[in-house]
Amino acid sequence: MNDTASRQLVLVTGGASGIGRGIAELLERTGTCVIPVDLQPSGHRYGVELDITDEGAVMAAVSEIEDRHGPVTGLVNAAGILGKVHPPERLRLSDWERELRVDLTGTFIMARAAGTLMAGRGAGAIVNIASIAATSSAPTLAYSAAKAGVVSLTQSLARSWGRSGVRVNAVSPGFTRTPALAAGIAAGVLSATNMEEPTALGRLLEVGEIAEAVAWLLSPKSSGVTGINLPVDAGYLCGVTWAGYQS
Ligand code: NAI
Repeated sequence: MNDTASRQLVLVTGGASGIGRGIAELLERTGTCVIPVDLQPSGHRYGVELDITDEGAVMAAVSEIEDRHGPVTGLVNAAGILGKVHPPERLRLSDWERELRVDLTGTFIMARAAGTLMAGRGAGAIVNIASIAATSSAPTLAYSAAKAGVVSLTQSLARSWGRSGVRVNAVSPGFTRTPALAAGIAAGVLSATNMEEPTALGRLLEVGEIAEAVAWLLSPKSSGVTGINLPVDAGYLCGVTWAGYQS
C-alpha cells in the first residue's frame, strides 16, 4: 500500500456487496486506498470482517487498521439491511431493534470510532448512506425510522466535528440495483415496475451512480459542504406525487 503523506485511506462498511462494493471499486479506480469492512468476506486483499454493531470489535479493528495502514482519512457507512415490510400492529420489537441496531446504531458506532480519530487530527470526511425512505413514508417502518435517524445523526456529527476539520454528509439512494434489491424482487416484496414508475428518469439506479456522489462528498471538491442529505434517486422524490394524477 502506498505510504505517502497525501494518501487517502477510506473505510467502506458494507464493502463486500451492492452499494458499498460499488463505492469501494470507484474509489480504488481513482487512486484511493480502500479498506472494505463487512460481516461477510469481501475477497479484497485488505478486507476486514467485522460486525459494525459490536462496538468493542469496531474500536479494535479501527485501531488495528491504523496501526497497519496509517491514518484513516475517510469513512463511508454503507453497511445496512433493507427493512422488512411490517404493519405497525404486527411489527415485532425484535425486528424493530435489529433494524435500528444495524442501520442506525452501527452507523453511529463506526462514525464515532473513525470520526473521533479524524477530528483529533483535524481532517476527514464521512458519508453515511441513508435512503429516500428517510424523508418519505414507506411500509418498512423500522427501516425508515432508522434512516431518518441517520440523516439527523449526520447533521449532529457535522456540527460536532465541523470545527475540527471533519465533514459529515449523507447520500440517500433511490431504488438501486443490488443483491439486496434483487432478493426483495425475487421474494415478491418489491416490484421493479412500481419502483421505476414514480421516478422522473423512469428507471432504477446503478451502484456506480451512488458511488459518484459519495466520491464527490469525500473529496476536497465538496470542501464547503457538510451536514447535507443528498438524494441520488433518479428523481423519485420529485416525481412521486404525479402518481396521484390521471394523465
Ligand atoms: P447489500 O445487502 O447488497 O449490501 C449490504 C452489505 O452490508 C452486505 O455486504 C452485508 O454483509 C453488510 N452488512 C450488513 N449488516 C452488517 C453488519 N452488522 N456489519 C457489517 N456489515 C454488514 O445491500 P445494498 O442494497 O447495497 O444496501 C447498502 C446500503 O444502502 C444499506 O444501508 C441500504 O439501506 C442502503 N440503501 C439501499 C437501497 C437499494 O435500493 N439497494 C436504497 C436506499 C438505501
